[in-house]
Amino acid sequence: MITRLAIAGYRSLRDVRLMLEPLTVVTGANGSGKSSLYRALRLLADVAQGRVVQSLAREGGLPSTLWAGPESFSRAMKRGEQPVQGTVRKNPISVRLGFSGEDYGYAIDLGLPIPSRSAFTRDPVIKAESVWTGEVLGRANAFAVRNGPGVRIRDDGGEWRQVFTNLATFDSMMTHCSDPREAVELLVLRERMRDWRFYDHFRSDNEAPARRPQVGTYTPVLSGDGTDLAAAVQTIRETGDAEALDAAIADAFPGAAVEVAAVDGYFELEMHQRGLLRPLKAAELSDGTLRYLLLIAALLSPRPPALMVLNEPETSLHPDLLAPLARLIIQAARRTQVIVVSHAQPLVSELDGQRNARRIVLDKQLGETIIVDDEPPLWTWPTR
Ligand SMILES: Nc1ncnc2c1ncn2[C@@H]1O[C@H](COP(=O)(O)OP(=O)(O)O)[C@@H](O)[C@H]1O
Ligand SMILES: [Mg+2]
Repeated sequence: MITRLAIAGYRSLRDVRLMLEPLTVVTGANGSGKSSLYRALRLLADVAQGRVVQSLAREGGLPSTLWAGPESFSRAMKRGEQPVQGTVRKNPISVRLGFSGEDYGYAIDLGLPIPSRSAFTRDPVIKAESVWTGEVLGRANAFAVRNGPGVRIRDDGGEWRQVFTNLATFDSMMTHCSDPREAVELLVLRERMRDWRFYDHFRSDNEAPARRPQVGTYTPVLSGDGTDLAAAVQTIRETGDAEALDAAIADAFPGAAVEVAAVDGYFELEMHQRGLLRPLKAAELSDGTLRYLLLIAALLSPRPPALMVLNEPETSLHPDLLAPLARLIIQAARRTQVIVVSHAQPLVSELDGQRNARRIVLDKQLGETIIVDDEPPLWTWPTR
């Protein structure tokens, strides 16, 4: 389980540190930084997939993702006695992301390249990375350290060994130190990060892929866009918790049942509803119903991940569906750590009332995301 998350220099998250629980709900007003937090988590997951630099570049590169305010606020600026202005930087420009759990922690520091004749002068580069044991990086507990192109790994006897001297600026040690004899912990951590699952605004428009019949193959993990909904539902029915599936559908849509019709290998979802003479096909379902079925398929996955992150799952759901959605999420959180980013008060309070749940309220002060009423946990970043 992830217990701490830290983000610095990314969009409105100038310096944010959070404690996470098995179920964490992140909420806050519009523009308070909820989506930025979600994206920061995705970027961390991208590290393990070897594409963090590309993802940052796609967001507009460091110039647009970097915190746009001053490096720090003086007291006078905070009190409004002095205008907010840039000060002479004490530290280099950087976007830093990190997390830790009870066993391991990881952090990455991305910055700008050293000026050169290269055409890639704005490409983000990986400046430093660390993997450590325990929750907080200290002097003695790091066991894999990257500084620029060099990577050192500490062996069982405590001796440091240089395993790379020329790692490319866009390659992470998490994907490139993959020799299990060198550091099996690195592999374990990377595989865990690769397993993190993100669901963000399923498409439910008329052209949405989830509305069309699809070739059905075993699908223990619903894809991010929900294309394979019918196959995922059938996989739950055949290899997962079919009872929970039916119960979740009945909880949200009393009297309704979902079946998957397979014709020539093509799977299509059909929903039987009270009062109708024939089942409705996925193409005919309302936006909200389709989205809810997608959420059911995601949350009842027969292969639960270590971490699942949902971004505004309430979007386009009827208010009556929020209570069943809360129950579904609570059920999933028994098997998987869940982070829900949500703007819907009824959903937030329902989830927050649970044991092992934590509510994180974001607010904005002088353009910066702050965590309301929460003491930031101890955290240290790797040094360059
Ligand atoms: N580089 C940046 N530096 C500082 N603030 C930024 C930067 N990029 C975006 N923002 C601001 O961050 C705020 C948070 O946005 P977002 O995470 O989308 O909020 P929410 O999802 O809570 O509505 C927005 O008001 C946006 O203007
Ligand atoms: Mg948002």
